[in-house]
Amino acid sequence: MRSTTAAALTLVSGAHAFWRMPCRTETGVARMDPIVDPGQIADHVHTIAGSGNFHMESTYADLTAEGACTSCAVTQDHSAYWTPALYFVYSNGSSVIVPQIGGMLAYYLYYMDNVKAFPEGFQMLAGQRDLRSFNGSFPDEPLSSWPQEPDDQKWLSQRALGFNCLNYGATAEPSLYRHELPEKSYMDANCKDGMRLEIGFPSCGNGELDSDDHQSHVAYPNLVKEGKCPEGYDIHYPFLFFETIWATNKFAGEDGEFALSHGDPTGAGYHGDFIMGWESSDFLQKALDTCQNQSGRIEDCALFDIQEDSKADQCSFEMPEVLSDEDVMSIQDGIPMGVPMQYGPADATKYPCVGRDGHSEPTKSAKSSKPSSSASDYGLLSKASSALFGDDDSKSSEGSDKASSYGSSTASDAEVAAASITASPSIYDAVDSSSANIVSTKTVTENGEVVEIAIEEVDMTVTATASQAADDKYRRHLHNHKRHGGARL
Ligand SMILES: *[C@@H]1O[C@H](CO)[C@@H](O)[C@H](O)[C@H]1NC(C)=O
Ligand SMILES: *[C@@H]1O[C@H](CO)[C@@H](O)[C@H](O)[C@H]1NC(C)=O
Ligand SMILES: *[C@@H]1O[C@H](CO)[C@@H](O)[C@H](O)[C@H]1NC(C)=O
Repeated sequence: MRSTTAAALTLVSGAHAFWRMPCRTETGVARMDPIVDPGQIADHVHTIAGSGNFHMESTYADLTAEGACTSCAVTQDHSAYWTPALYFVYSNGSSVIVPQIGGMLAYYLYYMDNVKAFPEGFQMLAGQRDLRSFNGSFPDEPLSSWPQEPDDQKWLSQRALGFNCLNYGATAEPSLYRHELPEKSYMDANCKDGMRLEIGFPSCGNGELDSDDHQSHVAYPNLVKEGKCPEGYDIHYPFLFFETIWATNKFAGEDGEFALSHGDPTGAGYHGDFIMGWESSDFLQKALDTCQNQSGRIEDCALFDIQEDSKADQCSFEMPEVLSDEDVMSIQDGIPMGVPMQYGPADATKYPCVGRDGHSEPTKSAKSSKPSSSASDYGLLSKASSALFGDDDSKSSEGSDKASSYGSSTASDAEVAAASITASPSIYDAVDSSSANIVSTKTVTENGEVVEIAIEEVDMTVTATASQAADDKYRRHLHNHKRHGGARL
């Protein structure tokens, strides 16, 4: 039993509607990317959520196929959501995946008018994987001084990345505040609860389902989340925003560095992928039109069928044979699989992809049939915070009761404490509240909306036991083996 007081930014009025889709566990962690590298091994590791029918060539039809599960809470959502994984590289050169806490949240926010559903077959990529430096000012210039025209999409996409330093005991940082990973020493000193990685997707579309670079059929409006769309990009999609939390705090005091799986220690090349996999575009449209409760809770949308966490948790994809021996959780030589670290500031260059086009394996990494300690922590941590994700009510003091009712079977107190997991409600309102922190009230008003922010203290209680988490993990492990005998753990 553990009580935590968290400072929560709470939206009081004037917010646009939104909902947040919890995808509490990943369906897998693997070198797959059906958008960028269809049909072949991807050149870096992704953490993937959503439809269980995910493979190297997944399409809308595959993701939504009869009988496919989803790791997201709403059963009508079989979309695929993925981002690079985060690693910690010890000074001796070996690396482990940073435990991910609570899976992923995919926000659907309505910043613009006349929001249209993503069509069936729609997919997109956000971010620029080759970037290794953010050359803008920190913090961002006030929105009022941003370009009035959305001409420079590269400039905008850099500002659609966020590396949020989590410390639930302090005032929450706004979303999309920092556009690079901070120094490790800064994280050690300040980010006591880990880092939240954020990426916002372009929400202006030209009507195409995809494009050669998987980006140019969509564009950011001039203020990233909202504002003016470029000419020819007149369709307004929801502002899709991913959050993933990583227990970087677990490595406080350790000598080494963090790096994203594409060899990026800076974070500037963070990116995300999305394949629309809703039951139908019509259904998503209906949800966008009717699910406008300010709470953002999926429970407040009558259209959504919500599955139990335990069910969502069982959803994993089948590991392709060619990847089934790959241990992407813990390896001896750098980050998997032979991806070179590229520090910038110049753009990263292409590197050979191990296992593809005749490129051979790097030095064999330590493989074991049992999960490594980091891998099992990984599961426990995900579990621990999964439960917390059930509590979305950040607005009121009822929060504390709710949190305890959800947090009944996760990880031990020690594990919870070790990961410094707290039920920070700021996670949920971060996007909206950030507009008040980033933007002055004046600017917001100039842009046609009035937003007010209040800071309130919310007490959260987490109750947890270790054995059940271990059991759950064991079951999940068996389940994975039953499906493909693969090396997901
Ligand atoms: C490198 O250091 C880490 C942390 O001390 C340790 O867990 C790991 O086994 C070491 N790797 C090698 C190859 O010695
Ligand atoms: C909106 O959400 C709040 C908080 O979850 C809930 O109490 C209320 O009943 C919801 N309103 C509607 C119309 O669903
Ligand atoms: C940032 O500056 C470095 C060094 O001058 C340069 O190589 C890099 O391309 C710049 N990045 C951007 C996004 O302008």
